[in-house]
Amino acid sequence: MLLAQLLHRIGIDSVILEAKSRQYIEHRVRAGVLEHQSVDILNEAGVGARMMREGLVHDGVILQFAGEAHRIDLSSLTGHGVMIYGQQEVVKDLVAARIQSGRPIHFEVEAVSLHDFDTDAPYVTYRSNRSDQRLDCDFIAGCDGFHGVCRASLPATRIELFERVYPFAWLGILADAEPASDELIYSNHERGFALLSMRSASVGRLYLQCKPNENLDEWSDDRVWEELARRFARKDGFKLAVGPIIQKSVAPMRSFVAEPMRHGRLFLTGDAAHIVPPTGAKGMNLAVADVKVLSLALRAHYHESRDDRLASFSATCLRRVWKVQRFSWWMTSLLHQFESDNAFDRRRQIAELDYLVSSEAAARTLAENYIGLPLELDRP
Ligand code: DHB
Repeated sequence: MLLAQLLHRIGIDSVILEAKSRQYIEHRVRAGVLEHQSVDILNEAGVGARMMREGLVHDGVILQFAGEAHRIDLSSLTGHGVMIYGQQEVVKDLVAARIQSGRPIHFEVEAVSLHDFDTDAPYVTYRSNRSDQRLDCDFIAGCDGFHGVCRASLPATRIELFERVYPFAWLGILADAEPASDELIYSNHERGFALLSMRSASVGRLYLQCKPNENLDEWSDDRVWEELARRFARKDGFKLAVGPIIQKSVAPMRSFVAEPMRHGRLFLTGDAAHIVPPTGAKGMNLAVADVKVLSLALRAHYHESRDDRLASFSATCLRRVWKVQRFSWWMTSLLHQFESDNAFDRRRQIAELDYLVSSEAAARTLAENYIGLPLELDRP
């Protein structure tokens, strides 16, 4: 939807096919941290007004370990902060903009199938409102997530997969509880990682490292709050604010890249091409960066009759994707408990955290990745 909106603003038309309902995509709780460049891109796309009013700008994050909290001052280290604004709110703003544009968006389409994307005349077939449809197009943008049909349409011989599955998951809750901290807290604790985040001044979003196959039926609200309290306990007596849990879910953790991201006239973006573990808050931001690159490549094609940007789309995106993969893997390794770790690894992890909060150079390394690496759009 963001790609369609960016293209619409420069006079390039598209049709959006969405497998789910509008209600579903607007209410699915997902990520919540926007890099400053993602904020700029949403504003440039004309969908940032509510985000600028309701989003929370954060100038720092807290790293907690050994019972103490340490602040990383993102703004003073990099000149930028991040924006807390739920992905489903971004989705609502994009759906509203699309509907206002009068351009097509079809919800609950079925049986989507891609054809002839290796030729100059690709087309997509699908079923909508119980009628079979054929859509002839110039390009297909595969913005359909990890489980979508676009990457699955490619023969295994055409893509190279790189993957790491982590031996844990995150149990996430949304709670009617005032966040106990103004800034996010990433806590390394011997019982497992925990993260305090938020969606507004009155809604908390918190996560706990858990088993990959964790059964939510075994997690009463009281048990979730007790475990969170243990993992956020501090020497200074910090206390979480507790409240009714509105939503609870378990998210698996993996690092995944499918190369290349272009196949003829099919372009893969976001989770269709790569997945990061959530620890660095990068998933939504990577998808925003990919579609920004693709929108510029399509602009060059239509407005300047140049295809060099289409040709370099995959390499341009992947160069940054891999740096963000590295950061997400590193944040995950830094903060979680790994069953395979021994006492040496545990001491090394705490030493690394201690180094991060005591060396400005190390803190800046974290900060410049966290607020978002440059898009490097013009690097050949
Ligand atoms: C949130 C998710 C993350 O993965 C993260 O690192 C920070 C915040 C969130 O959902 O608010």
